[in-house]
Amino acid sequence: MSQREQWSSKLGFILAAAGSAIGLGAIWKFPYIAGQNGGGAFFLIFIIFTLILGLPLLLAEFIIGRSAQDNAVDSYRKIAPGTQWHWVGIIGMVTSFILLSFYSVIGGWIVVYLFKAIVGDLNGLNSDQYAVVFGETISDPMISVFVQLLFILMTIFVVSKGVQKGIERASAIMMPALFILFIILVIRAVTLDGAMEGIKFLLQPDFTKVKSQTILEAMGQSFFTLSVGVSVMVTYSSYLPKTQSLPRSAFSIVGMNIFIVLLAGLAIFPAVFSFNLEPGAGPVLLFNVLPTVFSQIPFGMFFFIAFLVLFLFAALTSAFSMLEIIVSVISKGEPTQRKKWAWIIGLAIFVCGIPSALSFGILGEITLFGKTIFDLADFAVSNVLLPIGSLLIAIFVPVKMKKSTLYEELKRGSSFKKGLFEIWYFLIRFVAPLLILAVMLDVLGVW
Ligand code: PFF
Repeated sequence: MSQREQWSSKLGFILAAAGSAIGLGAIWKFPYIAGQNGGGAFFLIFIIFTLILGLPLLLAEFIIGRSAQDNAVDSYRKIAPGTQWHWVGIIGMVTSFILLSFYSVIGGWIVVYLFKAIVGDLNGLNSDQYAVVFGETISDPMISVFVQLLFILMTIFVVSKGVQKGIERASAIMMPALFILFIILVIRAVTLDGAMEGIKFLLQPDFTKVKSQTILEAMGQSFFTLSVGVSVMVTYSSYLPKTQSLPRSAFSIVGMNIFIVLLAGLAIFPAVFSFNLEPGAGPVLLFNVLPTVFSQIPFGMFFFIAFLVLFLFAALTSAFSMLEIIVSVISKGEPTQRKKWAWIIGLAIFVCGIPSALSFGILGEITLFGKTIFDLADFAVSNVLLPIGSLLIAIFVPVKMKKSTLYEELKRGSSFKKGLFEIWYFLIRFVAPLLILAVMLDVLGVW
């Protein structure tokens, strides 16, 4: 195998891993799932899961990747030769495949909204009209599939060029810019008439709304927003030099992620209540609410376009990681094979994702267990495959790696205290497997 590529700088890795984590999950998915699950209580449970499950798992994936320095499947082979553990990586590839097949649908929605905003189709509309225009657009089969394809083509293009250099550099500007725009948006949203209702909805937990399903959704959401359970973070940290502090990277990614989730919630819910919209509107929530908030800001359309560009960038950096994990396994790190496989796999994902795109229009009537094809794909990934992947990783690390090796990895390049290590180890070894199992069994009605 030719020499493995590495990140061009320490910052490159953090930016790429944060780029994978921060995406549609925090900005688009969190508000709508929180909206469907009663708001505050969901938010609180999500934060708790992020801290006691997501963060330890993120560290676990970093350790696996950096110590094995190989792709998502061979890393497990290297650490546990002659066992079946590499299936964790294979499950991750399948998860990534399904994930990108519906993620690209929403990526396409951003593209189409961006186009509409630029050509002026959205000028002078009121909040109800935005929803109508948007609904008509995404139910059009040609448009929804075409923009999904565009989103996937952008992803293929970048991944086929190799470890996402250049993109690293761009995200050093794009991510902070996204934060700043979000802050402007939040300031406007929380000063709308009737905003308090929305703030309370997000920040005041009402535990009467919590069902087993809510807890599962919150857990799935915490894995989804951190990109854990798929071995994407194994892949990314495998390109990492040994000198980088893993805990510091993990803490900053989790911190940024929680912050952006909070901003997204504070931008959306005050506006939902102020304009009498429906918090449980589902996947279209963000797209119906945001233009209304922007229209209340001077030069709103300009800011809205800037926001969509940054949002698209955030979604793409997540999509890169999904395609990257599959391509890096199949091309075995051979630069000559990368391009071919990025195209083959990317286009296969597109074809498999078409039914998800159409489930907001002509295939909308087709449901299984009361869910459309899109919802079913999302449910399978967020609430089944991510928890299973995470559960297996939580079992793998303490069982197949020596405790002293784990401590060495976490200590490298940082002053990680033994006490903190013990807490992490306890969370990974006992809390994570038991809690994930308990939540999954609870939903199945086992107790
Ligand atoms: N973390 C991404 C987001 O929140 O949009 C989604 C994601 C990317 C999940 C990559 C899993 C993954 F492997």
